[in-house]
Amino acid sequence: MDLALEGKTALVTGGSRGIGRAIALALARQGMNVALAARDEAALRSVAAEARAAGAGAHVHACDLREAAEPARFVAAAAQAFGRIDLVVANAGATKRGDFFALGDEDFADGFALKYFAHVRLVRAAWPHLVRGGGSVVHIGGIGGKTPGAEFTVGGSVNAAVTAFAKAMAERGIHDGVRVCVVNPGSIATDRLRTRIQALAAAEGLDEAAAAGAMARRLGIARFGTPEEVAAVVLFLASAPAAYVQGAVLDVDGGATRTI
Ligand SMILES: NC(=O)c1ccc[n+]([C@@H]2O[C@H](COP(=O)([O-])OP(=O)(O)OC[C@H]3O[C@@H](n4cnc5c(N)ncnc54)[C@H](OP(=O)(O)O)[C@@H]3O)[C@@H](O)[C@H]2O)c1
Repeated sequence: MDLALEGKTALVTGGSRGIGRAIALALARQGMNVALAARDEAALRSVAAEARAAGAGAHVHACDLREAAEPARFVAAAAQAFGRIDLVVANAGATKRGDFFALGDEDFADGFALKYFAHVRLVRAAWPHLVRGGGSVVHIGGIGGKTPGAEFTVGGSVNAAVTAFAKAMAERGIHDGVRVCVVNPGSIATDRLRTRIQALAAAEGLDEAAAAGAMARRLGIARFGTPEEVAAVVLFLASAPAAYVQGAVLDVDGGATRTI
């Protein structure tokens, strides 16, 4: 299957580790140039080196995407580096979990700053480039946006808002020739999940492996997913064979979401 990605350019936020890193490397292996944004410049440089080893061009932009001007700066730097932008993967996100009454306005504002406003600002800045080349956007949401939980009030709200924004821009994209989709990871084995497993292990006096098993059972899934399994779906959505997929919201969650 020809994915028709070679020689094109992708922006990946949160491309320094976890799901974003896996997405960036999957795109690089298809011959896409990748522009990566996150705060940790050394981690970004290390992923960029891996992308270059796969034969791709790579550009890094170390920044805090919660700062209002950064998404547009990232877009401008990537456009200057590669001369075109064909794909935006809005992935960076970090929302605080916990009991609602232990969370303050600042926790909600922080979650929205990175995973809602940065996504909006990124799409606003990149849109003219995407229109020019008939490109696409993939937002990385999360299944908590469809199935909210009491321990995940910030994340559930942010992911639902990102999905609403993506669906609205998908309508705009029908006319502008830009596809916009959402991928909802379930429980994916990244640093963020490991922190949750360690917290469960500490709370229940289990070792890490036992806590991981207990968490998977409680979630009703056979196992945790891998960042590469999320990346494979992003790769498809970005590709030519997905040309008629517009506004789709895809769960990559091992079956955790039981509802339609
Ligand atoms: N893992 C899961 O099970 C899961 C489930 C559902 C949804 N998701 C979603 O998938 C996405 C990626 O998750 P992940 O598990 O791969 O997370 P992760 O391993 O914690 O990686 C997060 C990435 O975002 C970057 N980032 C964090 N804060 C930033 C900031 N203020 N400015 C710029 N970059 C920032 C991080 O780099 P720096 O820290 O260096 O900035 C890192 O590259 C997130 O949107 C998350 O909500 C994940």
